[in-house]
Formats: sequence, structure tokens, C-alpha cells
Amino acid sequence: MTDSIRALIAGNWKMNGLEAQLGEAEAIAAALASEPARARVALCPPATLISRMAQRLKGGAVEIGAQDIAAQASGAFTGDVSAAMVADAGARLVILGHSERRALHGEDDAEVARKVEAALACGLEPIVCVGETLDQRQAGRAAAIVRGQVEASLPPALKAHAFCVAYEPVWAIGTGLTPSSAEIAALHADIRAALVERLGDTGRRAPILYGGSVKPANAAEILALPEVGGALVGGASLTAADFLPIIRAV
Ligand code: PGA
Repeated sequence: MTDSIRALIAGNWKMNGLEAQLGEAEAIAAALASEPARARVALCPPATLISRMAQRLKGGAVEIGAQDIAAQASGAFTGDVSAAMVADAGARLVILGHSERRALHGEDDAEVARKVEAALACGLEPIVCVGETLDQRQAGRAAAIVRGQVEASLPPALKAHAFCVAYEPVWAIGTGLTPSSAEIAALHADIRAALVERLGDTGRRAPILYGGSVKPANAAEILALPEVGGALVGGASLTAADFLPIIRAV
């Protein structure tokens, strides 16, 4: 962990959650109200729950995020949701360029960069995801791939804004596999260097989250690594029982 940067533990519910699961979010918020966390805490539910989660957790320590937005501000884009819409619903952050969006919806770095600009225009704090596939890692290209994603997904406009980067090796997401501590530390150092080169002082201050099979059993070790400024948590963010120990590991 880098001392001067306040860590962010963000939960990505992906396409999981109906109204009944809001009780888990309330349990997380209630626990943080009785014992505040050192980290910032965010939950990113599916778009259908943003508004209801924001209303139920209003005034508490849990910030609400979206999982994606359209690059366009409005118009004939059936099924898409804009930055202004999720902000209006109560989101303050937004995950962008998640590997599932990149792989399943063909999002490339240029589109991610446009979405970052759309987010900034509506006052949303972007969490921009980068990460290599298993083939890329085995070919020794992880660092180069990730550096390329940082350079092409982060528009210069970020210089004037708060944002986070999430390093999520694709092969570690939802698989139970994680890179070694040395591998995580090396990639985070590379990302920091690329951020500073690209965005100067702002690049020095942005938290770099690790994501990919973070769970209560490995959170403390990962979060203690240099330049790991928090975690983006999928499966283990769905219940208070799993998410709270990860928050408390900071
Ligand atoms: P996981 O997902 O924690 O379930 O591996 C992480 C993510 O995709 O953000």
C-alpha cells in the first residue's frame, strides 16, 4: 500500500443482483457505520439497482458506482445507458474497460478513452480496467500489453480529475487463480510509471487497484504490496460476509 493514497475497495456485482440482494449492501453499510473503514468503499451494482441502492445507502460510507456507460451523451442507442443517467440515478463512480466489456462487447482502448471522457463530463470518477490474457502473459508480453492499454485508454483530460486504474489479469478473474505477489508488484510499478509519464502529478496520486479472485484469504497480502491502492472485487463483493473482511484488510 502507498501511504499517501487512500485505498478504494470497490465491489463489482456484474450481472448479479435483484432487489432482494440490497439487504447485503445494507449489511455492509451498517457494519461500516458502526466501525468506519480505513479505505473508501464502493459498490457497483447492475444499472437496474443503482437508484435503489443509492437511496437505501444514502448518507452512509458506501459510494455507488456503475459498471459501464455509453460513450455518447444521448440519442438513438437502444439498450445503452449514458453517464448522465447513471449519475442521475445516484452513481458517483463508474467501472470502464472491464475485460468482460472488452472481450464480450468488442470495446477497444479508443472506445474506453471516449467513455472516460463521457464519465468526466458528468462528474463520475472512472475506474479504468487494464490487464493481460493468459496467452499474453505466457508470451512474456504482460507488461507491454498493460502499458499499451494505460496509454491508449486514459485520455489526457484525466489530468484534471480523480480516477483509479484497476489492474485485472484476465486469467485471474473469476478463476480463483492470482498472480504471485512479485508479479502483482511488478505490474503495479509499471502502471505507476506509465501513469506518471502520461499524466504527471495526477498520475502519481491515482490509486491502482488489483482485481482478479480477491477474497478474504488473500486480501491482506495483496493489499500490503507496494503501489496496490485497493481492490476491485467481483464474486466476493456479493455478500457482506465475504466483502467486509476484504474491506477490513486495508
Ligand atoms: P472476481 O472478479 O473477483 O470475481 O475475480 C473481479 C472483476 O472482474 O472485477
